[in-house]
Amino acid sequence: MVKQMLLNLQNIDKNYGKEPLIVPVLKDVSLEVAQGDYIAIMGPSGSGKTTLMNIIGCLDRASEGTYLFEEEDISEMNDDALSDLRLNKIGFVFQNFNLLNSQTAQENVALPLIYAGVDKETRNHRANVALSKVGLADRTTFKPNQLSGGQKQRVAIARAIINNPKILLADEPTGALDQASGKQVMELFKTLNGEGVTIIMITHDANVASHAKKILHIIDGEIIENKQGGVA
Ligand SMILES: Nc1ncnc2c1ncn2[C@@H]1O[C@H](COP(=O)(O)OP(=O)(O)OP(=O)(O)O)[C@@H](O)[C@H]1O
Ligand SMILES: [Mg+2]
Repeated sequence: MVKQMLLNLQNIDKNYGKEPLIVPVLKDVSLEVAQGDYIAIMGPSGSGKTTLMNIIGCLDRASEGTYLFEEEDISEMNDDALSDLRLNKIGFVFQNFNLLNSQTAQENVALPLIYAGVDKETRNHRANVALSKVGLADRTTFKPNQLSGGQKQRVAIARAIINNPKILLADEPTGALDQASGKQVMELFKTLNGEGVTIIMITHDANVASHAKKILHIIDGEIIENKQGGVA
């Protein structure tokens, strides 16, 4: 079976600032991601990992280069089209969960469905299904401060997958978790990837990276190496 190309980034530069104080952050980064890939990105602090993730997630635009998402040129989409694309095709998971503290797990997970215009009954039902999937069927009415770190991250993952995204982007998803909770998150990612969700994950932890099918290293804004992950 031919794998479908999902993302195609070619010769991406990202600079911050303005003349004469331009700071080059990404330098000639090219990356092709096929449907079903599971990629870990490693590299020192400040090397440009989050900057690259923000471009991949269409939260920021490249300074130079081309980025095709399912063969569509991102540079030709306006901000509304980009937010639609993010809402429907991309799930985000962050180190610090980014949950709303005043809302229950169910409400946090259902949030993207509000933006998608889904009615309340359907939202709640789908949020409960997603929470069951991450092993939290018995925590739907809990607020973030009543959940452990690992449980909060699983709520965040349920929120990220509620719209059945093509791709899951995770920036240090286990960075704030103990080892056991981190392992649960990795098991969840493996299941999702097995179901066809493409995953790109930033991590400082070589053990975590070894769960991916491919590991990329970024140093000083350049992808320098490309080697296989350890766990199939
Ligand atoms: N909005 C911005 N304006 C100016 N410079 C920025 C901006 N965002 C990031 N940078 C710079 O870009 C470089 C890369 O930052 P980035 O956040 O991508 O690093 P990182 O690899 O994710 O690091 P970490 O592992 O610490 O999260 C840093 O030198 C940072 O100072
Ligand atoms: Mg970062």
